[in-house]
Amino acid sequence: MKKVLLFASGGGSNVKAILRYFQDRPEISFPLIITNNRHAGVIGIAQDNKIDVMLVDKDLFNEEVFIDTLEYFKPDLLVLAGFLWKIPGYMVKAFPNKIINIHPALLPKFGGKGMYGHHVHEAVVVRGESVSGITIHFVNEHYDEGTVLLQKEVALESTDTPEIVAAKVLSLEHTWYARVIDSLLQQA
Ligand code: GAR
Repeated sequence: MKKVLLFASGGGSNVKAILRYFQDRPEISFPLIITNNRHAGVIGIAQDNKIDVMLVDKDLFNEEVFIDTLEYFKPDLLVLAGFLWKIPGYMVKAFPNKIINIHPALLPKFGGKGMYGHHVHEAVVVRGESVSGITIHFVNEHYDEGTVLLQKEVALESTDTPEIVAAKVLSLEHTWYARVIDSLLQQA
């Protein structure tokens, strides 16, 4: 049995795609979804899938005692799926090469603090990029800087709005994130 902890702050479409991909794989379990946002859409997705949700505040998240909760599950992988808080150093140290993130652009472009969700797609459009994409990477102590596991590109039209770019990028995310998770779990 392999265990995956999911972290999400928003609508949770990536979480949904991941759960759908693994729905007929009983050897992969998702015992807990951690969120920092009591209004996150991902809470409804967790309920639909009978997965427990843990709501964290900044104090708890940044305290080393939180590691006891995470270690209780003996996770093989910690997956950030639209989780917008920085992962504290103690967590990176406790789970080396076990925390992964998806970023909605081709890092190192359009990464770093403040670059998340629609901010990324707006910046891509303002810069007139002809290509965007996704980056799936290990998490280290710095925003968006860990080893890259996979990048996929999508072509943009000069008329694409940030909403259109977001939709193109999300479609790539939904296709590729679960596959990368699957491949990492096979190696775990
Ligand atoms: C996704 O596009 C993800 O790449 C992005 O948030 C969105 C979450 O969507 N993450 C970041 O920007 C992290 N820097 P979702 O809640 O529908 O999965």
